[in-house]
Amino acid sequence: MQATAIAQPNIALIKYWGKRDVERNLPAVGSISITLSELYTEVSVELSPDLQEDELCVNDEESQSMLPRISRCLDTVIGAARLRARVTSRSNFPIAAGLASSASAFAATTVAAAGAANLAYETEILARLAGQASGSAARSLYGGFVELKNSADTIDLTALRDVDSWPLQVVVAITEPGPKATGSTEAMELSRETSPFYDSWIEQQEQDLDIARAAILKRDFAGLATVAEHNCLKMHSVMWASRPPMVYWNSATMHCMQTLRRLQGEGCKVFFTIDAGPQVKAVCLPGDAEVVGQALTETPGVQKVMTSGLGPAARAVDKA
Ligand code: DP6
Repeated sequence: MQATAIAQPNIALIKYWGKRDVERNLPAVGSISITLSELYTEVSVELSPDLQEDELCVNDEESQSMLPRISRCLDTVIGAARLRARVTSRSNFPIAAGLASSASAFAATTVAAAGAANLAYETEILARLAGQASGSAARSLYGGFVELKNSADTIDLTALRDVDSWPLQVVVAITEPGPKATGSTEAMELSRETSPFYDSWIEQQEQDLDIARAAILKRDFAGLATVAEHNCLKMHSVMWASRPPMVYWNSATMHCMQTLRRLQGEGCKVFFTIDAGPQVKAVCLPGDAEVVGQALTETPGVQKVMTSGLGPAARAVDKA
């Protein structure tokens, strides 16, 4: 009746932004991501007949704000007529700050919940269940390079490349560790309802996915860099043009982008991507990680830099 799982966050290179079915949390577009190695969330789920209500403890503190979403995730995985649960979560990086903490948290919760209830689901099913809680979480059920495809009535996941066959590094520049004001779920709906660029964003996504997939299969860093930066800036343009505008960047976000442009000019193999928050993720070849980390550390407004390789899929761990 108790199980623990670990999941790593993933960073989308071709972004999921927009839902085609809010009720079932189905994305409006496919996406491609890389799962990280150094950042993680560990979640334990204990089902108990002694509990009247679910309980959630995040990094040693009781959390009421995330509890409804966690309870819904447990209902999805185990069924609504389940025992109540004590859920304990711990992450080694800032949460709700645009660092994909919901991806690792819901991927780990899904795997731990299935384990606690003794349900032996296939990875693909676990990914779909995690995706109902948070779209990006589905991708953390796989390691390395992952594609999430929009199918007729569901999502399909494919591992495009494993961790070792193209060991890229990701340098994360944290410019503001506090939680963001607007969550991505709400901001996506605002984009769909008000942004004049939303429809073209959706229309162009297949083309970006095709280009990125081909670049990953060929290990074409320059090709991947161009399409990933373009896709990221398009997503933020959709947000900026919504009403009210949704601007997640701060001045340090811009400074980081300038630092990376300078490094690119000097021949460094690096590109940026930014999610629904002000942090900048610099993806680079392993030989360039040190110089990228140093340059971002020295960039005005950067509070912390974390470097990670590519990591494995979410998995159950034995805590006994
Ligand atoms: C910008 O997965 O957090 O990081 O499904 O509403 O929980 P919900 O959204 P979420 O959105 C992630 C958005 C993104 C891009 C991405 O990871 O693909």
